[in-house]
Amino acid sequence: MDHFHLRDGELYAEDVPLARIADEVGTPVYVYSRATFERHARVFREGLAGVGPAHFAFAVKANPNLAVLRVMQREGFGADVVSGGELARALAAGMAPGDIVFSGVGKQARELIQGLDAGIGQFNIESEEEGEELSAIAAARGLRAPSALRVNPDIDAGTHDKISTGKADNKFGVPIGRAAEIYARLSALPGLEMRGLATHIGSQLSDLAPLERAFEKLGALIAALRAAGLTVSHADLGGGLGVPYRQGDVMPSPAEYGAMVARVTRGWDVTLMFEPGRVIAGNAGVLLTRVVRVKQGVHDPFVIVDAAMNDLARPALYGAWHDFEAVRPSNRRMTANIVGPICETGDTFAMGRDIEGVEPGDLAIFRTAGAYGATMASSYNSRGFVAEVMVDGDKFAVVADRILPEAIAGAERVPDWLD
Ligand code: LLP
Repeated sequence: MDHFHLRDGELYAEDVPLARIADEVGTPVYVYSRATFERHARVFREGLAGVGPAHFAFAVKANPNLAVLRVMQREGFGADVVSGGELARALAAGMAPGDIVFSGVGKQARELIQGLDAGIGQFNIESEEEGEELSAIAAARGLRAPSALRVNPDIDAGTHDKISTGKADNKFGVPIGRAAEIYARLSALPGLEMRGLATHIGSQLSDLAPLERAFEKLGALIAALRAAGLTVSHADLGGGLGVPYRQGDVMPSPAEYGAMVARVTRGWDVTLMFEPGRVIAGNAGVLLTRVVRVKQGVHDPFVIVDAAMNDLARPALYGAWHDFEAVRPSNRRMTANIVGPICETGDTFAMGRDIEGVEPGDLAIFRTAGAYGATMASSYNSRGFVAEVMVDGDKFAVVADRILPEAIAGAERVPDWLD
């Protein structure tokens, strides 16, 4: 459930008409609903109420906006970060260092140091090599880094190939067949405090079965490690729950996910950790755009909007579907190709889509843009970085300024030897 709804014939975010935001901030602009973030955070937590001790870390990559992170912090979430930049954001948003988990296959020495200096709660080590490096850096500082070993369970999550992470030939984690041996080795290193395992098999999962198989493998590994005399007090089950992108899509609910987790992890005797991103943020944001022009096509007309693949990359990257709705529905329909202004055919949001009739100047939204939206923006075609707004009841605030093309060009220079 979200808070973007029709009222008196026009779309609102909570109690604010989207047209007002377009007038005051311009388009394209991402609009987030605080109430929706909070609702999703609570529904997720409630869904997992039956699993015993649990820690919730919002996957910052899904939406790193500082205001969003603050909302999550106020909901009692920590952060799952994958770079020094994300770590700095989580801290700036007020998250307790101990509630931060650092994942990622390519953490650099300076990022490991940044995490150690901040006193973060857990490093999710993705390779034996990384474990050795972290241990050496921590030991040199007289520290032991609280760590989990990320395991690649070799399971096909059944999602888009580019967002699958748990197959043997994906770059993530250590192969499950070698995990016990690597865990034992890392446990003996002076700079690590090995406290558990982590796994994450992919994103936008529409089926719980692959997750369940992955968790079963993790459970067997925990038992094997303990039988070998090793300590396991934490198990990080990652994120991955899918969200409905298309009206009518049915996805597993947090309650169904929670029931599955409770069943599979019974008797594990660990603190479970979760790293949800999309399921919290996806439907808490929309991309508000204005129709620039409607151009005749050979088949369907092209609705050219002022948002483009640089603002919302998911359709171009993954062929993803985002529902498109007019802010003031006209009650007539049209079949159209929805495209942005960028000079490549990949800049297409939808082909042959049945939509409400729109005309030049009309406002419209792409739904489910709160996760992996603004954060994946670029400045391709020398377009700026899109602005972001958060709505709270009947008020709203710009939570990220639009970065103009001039500002981006301002960071460039022509060396004097080109004069
Ligand atoms: N934990 C780890 C270690 C991850 O790699 C990810 C996402 C998450 C948690 C959060 O997963 P979620 O709950 O959001 O599914 N840009 C792509 C999605 C990439 C996801 C990468 N990892 C997209 O737009 O679909």
